[in-house]
Amino acid sequence: MENSLEEREKELLAKIDPERLPGHVAIIMDGNGRWAKERGLPRSAGHRQGVETVREIVSCSHRLGIKVLTLFAFSTENWKRPAWEVNYLMSLPQQYLKKELPKLVEENVKVNLIGDPSRLPPPVQKAVNQGLEATRNNTGMVLNFALNYGSRMEIVRAVQGLLADIQEGRHKGPVTEEVFSRYLFTAGLPDPDLLIRTSGEYRLSNFLLWQLAYSELWFTRTYWPDFNRCHLLQAVYDYQQRERRFGKI
Ligand code: IPE
Ligand code: IPE
Ligand code: MG
Repeated sequence: MENSLEEREKELLAKIDPERLPGHVAIIMDGNGRWAKERGLPRSAGHRQGVETVREIVSCSHRLGIKVLTLFAFSTENWKRPAWEVNYLMSLPQQYLKKELPKLVEENVKVNLIGDPSRLPPPVQKAVNQGLEATRNNTGMVLNFALNYGSRMEIVRAVQGLLADIQEGRHKGPVTEEVFSRYLFTAGLPDPDLLIRTSGEYRLSNFLLWQLAYSELWFTRTYWPDFNRCHLLQAVYDYQQRERRFGKI
């Protein structure tokens, strides 16, 4: 099994054009609960296995030369889940960073956060801040976690920020798309070139609505805990077969 994964990886790597990689890959990591249910396990087991997938995909993206990897880890709507599940999900960033941060620092990966951190439990805020601080000067891949992220919340906050800056004279001149983008959590990051969603759901679930305007979308029925580097490479290969026209002919 492992062997054939390696062979497949080699095949895909040989087909991928390193000059035309998607600069920014965004992933809606979905299907942890159903993965667990199919195995008669608690949903938390799916989330735990999902963290292993995060490790594999971060490492593969980094080796491939992806510049920005955005992972949707917790949405503003996910607070509606039962308290035990929210608590479990909230324990994962610390767990992940505790184990991975030294490697991320060493590999020149820069951790970034999009979303509203103020509602995150203080230990999560602390762990995330440590991650941001420890990798602040890194210049390699940006590993961008969407935590308590919702696109509509982001857009409303951007409008509020912009209005305040106009009223207080900090912003003068026209409000262009470029100006508006600077008020989003993703300020300074390029828009995703490729969006991946796992688990056979075909929706955006309030993720990066502005930023995904011209992204290529790639869906798989595979649940996130079963997603591996070959799925990622396949998505990148498929992306390279698409023609991006941006409205032109
Ligand atoms: C993705 O898996 C993890 C988060 C949304 C945080 P789910 O927990 O949504 O798994 P399903 O969709 O119920 O299978
Ligand atoms: C989207 O998955 C959010 C994350 C992956 C963090 P959900 O499982 O919450 O999405 P819906 O509710 O099925 O649309
Ligand atoms: Mg889901």
